[in-house]
Formats: sequence, C-alpha cells, structure tokens
Amino acid sequence: DNCSSKVLDILNKIKNEIDPSIAYRRSCAHGVCGSCAMNMNGKNGLACTKSHSELDGDIDIYPLPHLKVLKDLIGDLSTLYKQYESVEPWLKTTKINDKENIQTKEDRAKLDGLYECIMCACCSTSCPSYWWNGEKYLGPAVLLQAYRWIIDSRDEDRKERLKKVADELKLYRCHTILNC
Ligand code: FES
Repeated sequence: DNCSSKVLDILNKIKNEIDPSIAYRRSCAHGVCGSCAMNMNGKNGLACTKSHSELDGDIDIYPLPHLKVLKDLIGDLSTLYKQYESVEPWLKTTKINDKENIQTKEDRAKLDGLYECIMCACCSTSCPSYWWNGEKYLGPAVLLQAYRWIIDSRDEDRKERLKKVADELKLYRCHTILNC
C-alpha cells in the first residue's frame, strides 16, 4: 500500500528496504533511457512504465531473455552495442557548413517510427532468430537503426550502408516471426 505502482518502484523498494544487493539497471524512470528493460510475466518491457496493475497476480521478473546474465536482472548487451556501432549510426555527409541541412516535410516524415527507438533491446531479445544467431544476425533493434540512416535524405552513404547489411546472416535471418 505504501509503494508506487510501477514495477521499477517495487524493485527500488525491495533494494532500499529488503535486499540492497539486488542489481538492475535504471536511470530516467520515465521510459526515455531504455535501461530498465526486463522480462515481466513473460513479456519484455520497461519496468519504469509497467504498472503492477497491468500484470496479473505475483509478478515474475527475469533479465531480458537469452543474454548472458552479469548479475540478477542485468544482461550483457555488449554484442548488441557492437552491432549497433557496426551500422555507423550517425549522419554521413560532405555538406558541412554553418547552415541547416534541410529536408522536405515528406523526407522528414520517413523518419517517424524510427528515430524514437531508445535501444532498450526489448525487441531484439524477444526475437527467436536473434536468440539462435545473435552473434551474426543484427536483430530488429539494430536493423531499425540501420534503416533510420539508410532512409535519411541528408545522408550520402546509402549505397554503402545497404551493401553492409545486405547479407544472408546480418539481415536475412529475419524470418518475420514478428515477436519483436
Ligand atoms: Fe529509463 Fe526505464 S529507467 S526507461
């Protein structure tokens, strides 16, 4: 009765009052940083936005699936971060000047649904194909990030970016299971 409703609040209460040794990631507590991603009652999600009233009965909490567990709820995301780095997630352009690099409204709209990704890894770690081939298949989160730069009208590296991901394992291990 004296705990706020989010799963992260419950974990904080446990850590503060019962077991200070419990380890989990968290930072913003507002669904922005993605660090509190975990598996709650069988589904991946953000502990700071998930209310216990959305979960039936006792809450079973696990680290994100199929990651090496470093401690308690902390999974090892180093492979995913290396894969993210491999798609070079930054603007590549020769137009460096002191003016704005303008896009049309239509081109800007193509980034909707892509730029919002907070890299929480909920989608990649719920993907069976990523479980089986996580070292080689880039997985949904990193592929989305790759596409975010491929489709950006200001970027001049589209051909190279496409070449980099057009690979039997990196891209085509997506079997449209759609668990992501
Ligand atoms: Fe930042 Fe949950 S703590 S998304």
